[in-house]
Amino acid sequence: MRKKIVAGNWKMNTTVPEGVSLAREVVAKAGEVPSDVKLIVAVPATHLVSVAAVLEGSAVELSAENCADHEKGAYTGEISAAMIASTGATYTILGHSERRQYYGETDEKLVEKARIAFANSLKVILCVGENLEEREAGKHFEVCESQIENVLFKFSAEQMKDFVIAYEPVWAIGTGKTATAAQAEEIHAFIRKTIAGRFGAEIAADMTILYGGSCKPSNAPELFAQEDIDGGLIGGAALKADDFIGIAKSF
Ligand code: 13P
Repeated sequence: MRKKIVAGNWKMNTTVPEGVSLAREVVAKAGEVPSDVKLIVAVPATHLVSVAAVLEGSAVELSAENCADHEKGAYTGEISAAMIASTGATYTILGHSERRQYYGETDEKLVEKARIAFANSLKVILCVGENLEEREAGKHFEVCESQIENVLFKFSAEQMKDFVIAYEPVWAIGTGKTATAAQAEEIHAFIRKTIAGRFGAEIAADMTILYGGSCKPSNAPELFAQEDIDGGLIGGAALKADDFIGIAKSF
């Protein structure tokens, strides 16, 4: 049985004290969430150590939002997978559309990053998704397929258990425009089929595929009721503990 996951991506929001209070609130309310739903908070690198201390002893797991494409060395300003793992984090997000769009993150770089993340025992939340232009041109299947092939297919069947996929249509991120449950399900099912084509039905059935893009407590129940939607990667709504927990209670 694949895992249900609700992960908050805080992006570049909150100072350390604000992040610590938000994490405290999430931990305080985590007991309201069904026990088969895993909660993850992905926080800015500056927050990892302090938030790890708050999460200790709770079931909430910690993620970075990105990691470097080199093991270590003269890469000023970068943060390595080993550094992230040493804080107690167990995941890193990779390939978020904001990183692809603003920081030139390519599929090739993502392969390197994921390889190093795995070497340091981090699991990877790999984001895929089309932009508005691609959606309007009817290319959404093809875009997601190539992102999956270019990154996921570079790894072994054995490594699939350490990946979570997040489908985030770029046009739905931070815009208030959610993909309809049917639009999201259509792509989720397609991604699962693509994975099955390469790694077999069993591995595809075990893969957690999250939806991200203007997900909130009001629309989460319909999204999470879809066969192939196993939870969410939540941006704006993850900055309020009540909304984040409300979403996680939506299954
Ligand atoms: P919003 O929930 O703010 O649309 O962001 C989604 C997202 O990008 C999560 O990674």
